[in-house]
Amino acid sequence: MNDYYEVSLKEWRLKEIHKAAEHSPVEHIFVKGSIADKALIDEEFEKYHFDVVVNLAAQAGVRYSIDHPDVYIESNLIGFYNILEACRHNPVDHLVYASSSSVYGGNKKVPFSTDDKVDNPVSLYAATKKSNELLAHAHSKLYNIPSTGLRFFTVYGPAGRPDMFYFSETKKLVAGEKIQFFNYGDMRRDFTYIDDIAEGVYRIMQGAPDKSTGQDGLPIPPYSVYNIGGDQPYPHGSGRSILKRESSPISGCRWFYSIVSA
Ligand SMILES: NC(=O)c1ccc[n+]([C@@H]2O[C@H](COP(=O)([O-])OP(=O)(O)OC[C@H]3O[C@@H](n4cnc5c(N)ncnc54)[C@H](O)[C@@H]3O)[C@@H](O)[C@H]2O)c1
Repeated sequence: MNDYYEVSLKEWRLKEIHKAAEHSPVEHIFVKGSIADKALIDEEFEKYHFDVVVNLAAQAGVRYSIDHPDVYIESNLIGFYNILEACRHNPVDHLVYASSSSVYGGNKKVPFSTDDKVDNPVSLYAATKKSNELLAHAHSKLYNIPSTGLRFFTVYGPAGRPDMFYFSETKKLVAGEKIQFFNYGDMRRDFTYIDDIAEGVYRIMQGAPDKSTGQDGLPIPPYSVYNIGGDQPYPHGSGRSILKRESSPISGCRWFYSIVSA
């Protein structure tokens, strides 16, 4: 629970999870700590003998990685490696983890496919997410750990991350500040509603990739990667119209934007 953005928002979400768990057969246990803390992770895995592990913990955000690279290495690489190692020493039926559409970087071919080459990340964040997929593949191959990486596409919804465009720019408009649209305003983006992500993760959890043996007698890595997106990229122009329509009734809100080149 780092302070990348308001911790109070994370605490509110946690309360909602606790409340939901009270009315379900699920026991929810919250352990405060970092996945980069190997001793803690090992202890939790040894204690609970997990069947399925879902790792969503990561330092998110493309722009933040420009000025704060260390935290991405710590959480997304060391932390993720600790999860993989814990799955190795405490075998699980399935490891599901969040990757990102940012691995597609500057790829021009659309729609993006998991068969596309994604070897040219344009941010450290994307590089760590692609690295997670590579590390997971090696661990699947070497230790037969069934793993599935999910490349999420711009997730939105209530209690979403405040640094996401739709929240951060609306906040600026309300404060009477100017907002900017990059690349001459010519951008398209796929959005995915949070409930669809939750449903996708839930379904994937129960479908671990099969363990099988190749013709050479060696195990074929039980490894998958999927895109989870809305499959309907929206141009930023329509984002502008929605922002303008929704923000205009808010008192003190000025509609003030510029379109810049890069
Ligand atoms: N939101 C999106 O549009 C989007 C898109 C692609 C991928 N993802 C991925 O989905 C996952 C969830 O993203 P989100 O948007 O909910 O971001 P988020 O920042 O709200 O959630 C990530 C959580 O991980 C926690 N965390 C960070 N470092 C940690 C560490 N070392 N140990 C333990 N916890 C740690 C943070 O405190 C935070 O609560 C991330 O892996 C992110 O990279 C999100």
